[in-house]
Amino acid sequence: MSIKTVGVIGAGTMGAGIALVCARKGHQVMLLDANQAVLDKALVYLESILTKDVEKNKISEQEMKETLELVQLVSEMEQLADCDIVIEAVPERLDLKKSIFSQLSGICRED
Ligand SMILES: NC(=O)c1ccc[n+]([C@@H]2O[C@H](COP(=O)([O-])OP(=O)(O)OC[C@H]3O[C@@H](n4cnc5c(N)ncnc54)[C@H](O)[C@@H]3O)[C@@H](O)[C@H]2O)c1
Repeated sequence: MSIKTVGVIGAGTMGAGIALVCARKGHQVMLLDANQAVLDKALVYLESILTKDVEKNKISEQEMKETLELVQLVSEMEQLADCDIVIEAVPERLDLKKSIFSQLSGICRED
């Protein structure tokens, strides 16, 4: 199965890092968090890491721009409906994780 779009639930420490790895590999990323301030912070984080990559001549400014454009910040689970894969990165609480996967099963495609 080819993975074009990756959903990431939780934009904290892990989620922001996962989103960056996926976007660097050319995947479209839908980064979701319940907290808008966390999403804003995640974007600042992505920009800061990619800016360092540009400064170290690892990537061009154009590549930085293209990588950032791959990341879409979202706040509703329904927006993940077309993702080819969804990665969960919410806090380590079983009830929360169960709830996330229960909601996803009603949103994501069968595959
Ligand atoms: N941080 C680490 O070094 C590390 C290492 C290995 C594994 N983990 C695991 O990764 C997972 C995430 O950890 P983290 O450190 O990134 O946590 P974090 O607290 O930094 O981020 C979790 C994010 O999930 C968001 N969130 C909570 N409920 C949500 C919901 N219903 N819908 C959308 N977003 C929601 C929170 O707003 C928060 O921004 C945990 O299971 C943790 O155990 C973390």
